[in-house]
Amino acid sequence: MPAKPRLNICITCTASHADAQTDPRHGKQLFDRMTELCADQDLPFDLRPAECLNNCKSGCSIALNGAGKWGYVYGNVDPDTMIDDLCDLAQRYAESEEGIVAWRERPESLRRNVIARIPPLD
Ligand code: FES
Repeated sequence: MPAKPRLNICITCTASHADAQTDPRHGKQLFDRMTELCADQDLPFDLRPAECLNNCKSGCSIALNGAGKWGYVYGNVDPDTMIDDLCDLAQRYAESEEGIVAWRERPESLRRNVIARIPPLD
């Protein structure tokens, strides 16, 4: 059985709207809240922490990837307001054939947050 697609969350991010770092960092808060949300659900993706996705000025940053799927980096994810939308996006990503979630099918709060996309391995 192939591995599930992954939602990678940068745990060292500071949110782009913040004046200063927090302890724990905004990215860690995002990861912890997503872990809590996912705990009792059988979701079609795995959650992984990552240390820096090289998108530090537009934190919080996350990356979606999976076998045979386009990879996506998203930025400016607000750990206070976007948890449910991020979970929705990751589910749609995991359930898509090639990792492509059409703009109109993305949660509205994340529609303009794509930083980069990466072609799949053959
Ligand atoms: S610290 Fe999160 S992208 Fe660099």
